[in-house]
Amino acid sequence: MSDNTRSWFIVLCLLSAYTIPSSSDDKNYAKSLLKFKQSLTNPTMLQNWKEPLVDKLCFRNTPIWTGCLCLNGSFIGLRLEGMGLQGKIDIDSLSELPLFSFSLMHNNFSGPFPSDIKKLGKLRSLYLANNSFSGEIPDNAFSGMKFMKKVVLSHNLFRGKIPMSLMEMPRLVDLQVQDNLFVGRLPDFWQENLTVNFSYNNLEGRIPVKLSNQKASSFIGNINLCGKPLDPCKPKNSALKISFIAAAVGGFALAAFIIILLICRRRAKPLQYVKSVDMEKPSYNNKHETYKNNEHGKLYFVKNDNERFELEELLKASAQVLVSGSFGSSYKAALHSGKSYVVRRFRQMNNLGKEEFYEHMRRLGRLSHPNLLPLVAFYYRKEEKLLISHFVANGSLASHLHGNRSPNHPCLDWPTRLRIIKGVARGLAYLFKELPTLTLPHGHLKSSNVLLDGKYEPLIADYALVPVMNKNHAQQFMVAYKSPESTQNDRVTRKTDVWSLGILILELLTGKFPANYLRQGRGPNADLATWVDSVVREEWTGEVFDKDMNLGRHGDQGQMLRLLKIGMCCCEWNEEKRWGLSEAVERIEELDISDDDDYSSYASEGDLYHSSREMSDEEFSFSRA
Ligand SMILES: *[C@@H]1O[C@H](CO)[C@@H](O)[C@H](O)[C@H]1NC(C)=O
Ligand SMILES: *[C@@H]1O[C@H](CO)[C@@H](O)[C@H](O)[C@H]1NC(C)=O
Ligand SMILES: *[C@@H]1O[C@H](CO)[C@@H](O)[C@H](O)[C@H]1NC(C)=O
Ligand SMILES: *[C@@H]1O[C@H](CO)[C@@H](O)[C@H](O)[C@H]1NC(C)=O
Ligand SMILES: *[C@@H]1O[C@H](CO)[C@@H](O)[C@H](O)[C@H]1NC(C)=O
Repeated sequence: MSDNTRSWFIVLCLLSAYTIPSSSDDKNYAKSLLKFKQSLTNPTMLQNWKEPLVDKLCFRNTPIWTGCLCLNGSFIGLRLEGMGLQGKIDIDSLSELPLFSFSLMHNNFSGPFPSDIKKLGKLRSLYLANNSFSGEIPDNAFSGMKFMKKVVLSHNLFRGKIPMSLMEMPRLVDLQVQDNLFVGRLPDFWQENLTVNFSYNNLEGRIPVKLSNQKASSFIGNINLCGKPLDPCKPKNSALKISFIAAAVGGFALAAFIIILLICRRRAKPLQYVKSVDMEKPSYNNKHETYKNNEHGKLYFVKNDNERFELEELLKASAQVLVSGSFGSSYKAALHSGKSYVVRRFRQMNNLGKEEFYEHMRRLGRLSHPNLLPLVAFYYRKEEKLLISHFVANGSLASHLHGNRSPNHPCLDWPTRLRIIKGVARGLAYLFKELPTLTLPHGHLKSSNVLLDGKYEPLIADYALVPVMNKNHAQQFMVAYKSPESTQNDRVTRKTDVWSLGILILELLTGKFPANYLRQGRGPNADLATWVDSVVREEWTGEVFDKDMNLGRHGDQGQMLRLLKIGMCCCEWNEEKRWGLSEAVERIEELDISDDDDYSSYASEGDLYHSSREMSDEEFSFSRA
């Protein structure tokens, strides 16, 4: 490009004597451009925009200053693409130019939409795609821009409604807003010959008739859009009413059931469980005594396919304390067979009577999914329960995200993280499907309950324990009860686990530990909310991502951004607006390491990726040996 410019300079020098008509305007334009440049933070590619000012910005169709657009010797626009630009966009300076076309695509701009853009009254095309612009675009942002033909805002982080002032552009032929966070219904676009792309937002409702002739790919990735060219809208009304009534009746029945249960329990055993909440330090040396004396102490195996062992054997095995926490402590026990098990020890698990407890555990034992840590056996005593599962080679996701780096803890690259979150989503979806009667199919989803096997496939642990935990204890320690609906309205719903998934996603992407995540106690947990805010509302740049992910490939960053958005939609405070699990899972499944965007140039990098991926798998297995 610079070669090109240089050769034009030479031509220019040869011809300048007699061909260039002088134009005093251009000098003023140059002055304005220089002013505009000053508001940018790193305009390294605009080196030739400098004093002394040029007399002419254009020679025929060729610009003298980088990035100018020229037609027949006249300056007509700016095309400042892929220059790493960021900073403020000084619209006032630009408004002094005859700007017909203006592009800032593929730069690093962030912050709100430049809302005074309507001062550029001559503008026909505006391209802001592939930056990190964020926030809502005011409804009147484009008011009076009646010449506008192309508006390209794709691949940013714009939120809120599609601005209505787009309706005031009679000549609009191309509108691209894909890959943002726009919400709400589509306005009734009326323009002739309009091509649109609304894909990958959170738009909803019926697609306007006028847009029904567009390609389906212009609307995909909006779970709640319907109508031609997508699937027909469901006649929702009656179904909605019925499900509403059903939910109300179900809710009432459930509430009644809980109340009856509570009353019965109160009567039967007053104050039994209001003892000290503190867990003793697990004293491993004493364990043998404790269980030996308990004659009917027998392990109950929930499946037939596992090797059998006695509690004795488990207790004799060489063991190691893994976690000693308030929620429950765990030990690792290596048996003679060579297999290692994890024994989780719970004291505050008396919400159900013995029969019901067995029933619930058998139910958990029947669950089987590649991304669930299976329950192997359990042990029941009134004062204490033990849950036994296999030991998982690579520890928890939390230890990898927040632990010290070592050969045993290599940092997780992006493809691995994506695989992990996909696995978690699948496991969670399975729990939702298999446990339809539980309000909280998981209830305690967090990074330390996502274990990684030898191949770094995730296994979800500690699921579906809410029904058996003492209420008070659950509310103090379980993640679901840190959700906004629990802290504010004292209730949890089927979307509460989605919120935990969202937190997990943000944690996975940023590598930041949710401050005071595990803080004990009830009441407003302002800290976790602040944490989400700090992640979400920070200036949008690549900065938010964990540097350990190896941020080299830009195609990946597009996918990371998408996942970030998914995380945000899952963390939505208002649970009515929050996504359901199926939406979240669907979106997560759409992500891919080879970017499927319209940037085909990244396809070739995909192959490169695969070979490097295999290498790092080898590294992993090496580090395990
Ligand atoms: C540009 O100049 C050419 C020849 O000088 C002329 O034919 C053409 O109409 C001009 N175009 C515009 C848009 O002014
Ligand atoms: C986005 O812009 C960057 C420059 O900041 C560029 O390198 C990259 O190719 C663009 N990515 C896409 C997906 O267009
Ligand atoms: C739409 O396109 C057709 C065919 O290209 C053209 O005849 C018509 O004038 C266009 N309508 C508008 C409003 O631009
Ligand atoms: C719309 O954008 C999406 C995402 O970038 C792309 O996959 C799709 O092909 C586009 N559709 C059209 C009609 O351009
Ligand atoms: C632009 O942003 C990307 C990632 O967001 C970053 O890697 C790059 O260094 C930035 N470029 C400049 C010039 O700041």
